[in-house]
Amino acid sequence: MKMRKMLAVIMAAVVSLSIGACGADSSGSGSSNAAPSGTAAASNNSEKKIVLGFAQVGAESGWRTANTTSIQESAKGAGIDLKFSDAQQKQENQISAIRSYIAQKVDVIAFSPVVETGWDAVLQEAKDAGIPVVLTDRAVKMEGGKKAEDYYVTFLGSDFRLEGERAAQYLLDNASKLFPGKKEISIYELEGTVGSAPAIDRKEGFDKKIVTSTDVKFNIVKSQSGNFTRAEGQQVAESWLKSDADKMDVLFCHNDDMGLGAIQAIEAAGKKPGKDIIIVGIDGVKGAFEAMAAGKYNCSVECNPLIGPQLMDIVRKIMDGKTADIPKRIESEEGVFTQEQAAAELPNRKY
Ligand code: AHR
Repeated sequence: MKMRKMLAVIMAAVVSLSIGACGADSSGSGSSNAAPSGTAAASNNSEKKIVLGFAQVGAESGWRTANTTSIQESAKGAGIDLKFSDAQQKQENQISAIRSYIAQKVDVIAFSPVVETGWDAVLQEAKDAGIPVVLTDRAVKMEGGKKAEDYYVTFLGSDFRLEGERAAQYLLDNASKLFPGKKEISIYELEGTVGSAPAIDRKEGFDKKIVTSTDVKFNIVKSQSGNFTRAEGQQVAESWLKSDADKMDVLFCHNDDMGLGAIQAIEAAGKKPGKDIIIVGIDGVKGAFEAMAAGKYNCSVECNPLIGPQLMDIVRKIMDGKTADIPKRIESEEGVFTQEQAAAELPNRKY
C-alpha cells in the first residue's frame, strides 16, 4: 500500500514536470531564459520564419518599381516572409496596411511614408504593440515636439537635400557651356508629391544652392507638382509650354519619370529637349540614361532604390537582438551622371 502511494506521487511529479517543459517550449515565455519576441531565438528557430510587413508608397515611378523588386527579391533570398502592400500613393491606405501588420503581430514593420506628417497615431500603435519599425527611403515628422527617432529603429535611404544641391551644382558648374552668353536663366521646377520628404528636401536643397551663383543669375520662374509620375510631369510641362515655350531655359525635375514625360511635351511643342531646354532630373533610372545618350536629357542625380539587401540585414539584426548596433540613419552612396557619361554607363544600370 505504502509502495503504491509512493509510485503515484512519483508519476504525478513526472507528469507535472513534462507539462511545464512543454509550456515553456511552445510559448517561448514559460522560462526566465526564454527570449522575448524579436530576439535571436526567433530568428534561429528554423521552424518560424521572420515576418516583415512592408507598406510601399505605390508604383508611381521606375524608381519605385526597382525599389519594390529589390525588397521582394531580397526578402526571398534572405528567407524572410514578406507581407507587402501597395498604397497607391494614398496615406490612408498605408496607415491601414500598417494597422493590419500590427493586428497580424508581424515581427518587424517597414514602410516608405508617402508624406512626411500624419503618422503619430499609427507609429504609437506599433510602439505600444512592441513591433519595431524601420523607415525606408522617406522620413517622417512628428507633431507636438515628439521626436520621430523614438518611434523607429533606423532610417534607410538617401539624402534628398544633397540630391537637390547636386542638381543645382551641375547647372552652376556648366552654365557657360549650357547657356553661352546668357546672364539670366529661367528655371521651371517640376516638384514631386506634395508633402513628401523627397519633394520638400530636394526643393530646399536645389533652391538654396542655385541662388549662390555669382556670374549667371538663375531664376525659378514656376514650380508645380507632377506627383512623381510621367503622365503628370508631361501634363504640367505641356501647360507651361503653352505660354512659356520661348522663356524656358531649364526644367528641373524632382524625379526622372517626370522629366521623361516632359520630353514628350517639349517635342510636341516643337522644341528640342536637352538642347533648347536643358533637363536635369533625379533618380538615375535607365530611361534617363537612354534619353541622355540620345542627347535629350542633360543630367540625372542618382538616388539608389536597391536597398532591399540592406533592409533584410537590418531586420535580421533586430531579430538577433542587435538593435543597439544599428545606426539611426543609413545612407546610400550615390553619383551624378551627365550626357557625356551616359552611353558608357548605360550597360551598368540595374534599374
Ligand atoms: O522617394 C523617392 C522618390 O519617390 C523617387 O525619387 C521617385 O522617383 C519616387 O517616386
